[in-house]
Amino acid sequence: MKKLLSISLSLMMILSLFACGNKTTSSNTNANTNVNANTQAKKLIMCTNAEFPPYEYKDGGDFKGIDIEVAKLIGQKLGQEVEVLDIAFDSLIPTVMSGKADFAMAGMTVTEDRKENVDFSHTYQTAVQAVALPANSTIATIDDLNGKKIGVQQGTTGDIYCSGDYGNENIERYPKILDGFQAMKAGKIDACVVDDQVAKTIVATEPSLYKLLDTAYAEEEYAIAVKKGNTELLDKINKVIDELKASGELKTIVDKYIK
Ligand code: ARG
Repeated sequence: MKKLLSISLSLMMILSLFACGNKTTSSNTNANTNVNANTQAKKLIMCTNAEFPPYEYKDGGDFKGIDIEVAKLIGQKLGQEVEVLDIAFDSLIPTVMSGKADFAMAGMTVTEDRKENVDFSHTYQTAVQAVALPANSTIATIDDLNGKKIGVQQGTTGDIYCSGDYGNENIERYPKILDGFQAMKAGKIDACVVDDQVAKTIVATEPSLYKLLDTAYAEEEYAIAVKKGNTELLDKINKVIDELKASGELKTIVDKYIK
């Protein structure tokens, strides 16, 4: 737990430095026109892992969610169409690194390790890792998780933090966190650790079966990842994110999905 707190503390410090730095450069002027001036009509490929409601999920044949809508709006402001590539979460960074996608947007937390492989945009959401439990669980604190079987989505921060704190042997990794919830329902594991809004969304689908632990497990910030050194795209994305924050358009999208 100590490790976890220090990870999230240092992350917050870094992020707040970023936040201060950004203030001087962001402005309310219309980034839109600046950005449109030198864009080609080329499609932007966004990779994501659409197993993460309310940020990205499949609804019939359509992709929906906060990230999908924000990405489309970014594309619109840049005059570029956005195509969604739905892949495994742990393939997102390699796919951006290889250039097969222009950016990854997947409720992706900024971490020091990931920053070695991709560049991150300004952040657009904060989240905490939450602990979901069967409704009748006796687990009451974070420490009660010691020695318990914990389900996570492979390669996520939930996976990284829990492996470090509770030992590899206690972690069950799933390609999507919904599989973890199924395993929990079947009594195969004791808890799932996943981003709070996602946990809330899944728990709300079967409120008689699941509950959430009140303790916030770790705090984090989401950002868009681009190929290292692609400052042209990163600058454009940052301008639009700043604009969406300032205009309230980001909040409007978030409020549609998170009540
Ligand atoms: N925020 C966590 C992370 O960055 C989980 C993200 C999972 N996203 C997804 N679309 N499956 O590791």
